[in-house]
Amino acid sequence: MARLDGRVAIVTGGARSIGAAFAKGLAAEGAKIVIADLDAAEETLGIIKQAGGEAMAVKTDVTNESSCEEMVAKAVEAYGKLDILVANAGLWVHLERQSATEIDVDTWEKVMSVNVKGVWLSAKAAIPEMVKNEYGKIITVASTRAMKGGAGMLHYDTSKGAVIGLTRSLAREYGPSGICANIIAPGATDTEISQSLATDTQKERRVASAQARAIKRAEEPDDLVGACVHLASPESDFMSGQTLVVDGGAIVW
Ligand SMILES: NC(=O)c1ccc[n+]([C@@H]2O[C@H](COP(=O)([O-])OP(=O)(O)OC[C@H]3O[C@@H](n4cnc5c(N)ncnc54)[C@H](O)[C@@H]3O)[C@@H](O)[C@H]2O)c1
Repeated sequence: MARLDGRVAIVTGGARSIGAAFAKGLAAEGAKIVIADLDAAEETLGIIKQAGGEAMAVKTDVTNESSCEEMVAKAVEAYGKLDILVANAGLWVHLERQSATEIDVDTWEKVMSVNVKGVWLSAKAAIPEMVKNEYGKIITVASTRAMKGGAGMLHYDTSKGAVIGLTRSLAREYGPSGICANIIAPGATDTEISQSLATDTQKERRVASAQARAIKRAEEPDDLVGACVHLASPESDFMSGQTLVVDGGAIVW
């Protein structure tokens, strides 16, 4: 028996990159997957189905409350319940590096809207289903940048700090209802899209960040899947409010 047999999981931002790795990893352990993304998820759905998994896509904008409600309603309509929410959708790769004095208010609000409000609205829509079943796993995705700090991404770093606070409070508020809420904090992770957009300076920065790790290599989306499956499975039923740093030992947390 696989570790997530009979479970139903929504992965926001699951069409590509880290979210796609989560969706494929949870499906490989037997979960039925709902990919909730603004973008088409055909490629990821195809891979899951070809491997014998069950998955569907629901076009979702996590910044929109009724879109999140529809995401959950469609998951429940198709698969009967909801056990796992991986709130992964976030703005990162397309953000320009800017100093605190250069960031404009519109960009700041856009980052907060997707990275913070989007996590809250996804959870807000998912929680009633989980409460009904007295069981649920909420997994959010922060970043080690929220712990380390860094130049050029104040909006992003702030948003990921908020994700940690939000998840800890969800853990406290809904622990009595059988819901665990935990955080994965990845280090800088190479994705197809980040690789294709990387400037020479960014490539140099990636090499430097690999050297700063205990495990001296680039981080890839698949490196994060084990933590996600663990937090989604009954193995972690007594873990809540925790932050799992998965960054090859750059931060010893
Ligand atoms: N890649 C990294 O180095 C890194 C490091 C730490 C944390 N993270 C976090 O991991 C998560 C995934 O990052 P990634 O690198 O895979 O990003 P990505 O940009 O490659 O993928 C993000 C996905 O989210 C979707 N999305 C964006 N806005 C959305 C919205 N409003 N509603 C629904 N879907 C939306 C996109 O369509 C895309 O499929 C993000 O939360 C990011 O902040 C990434």
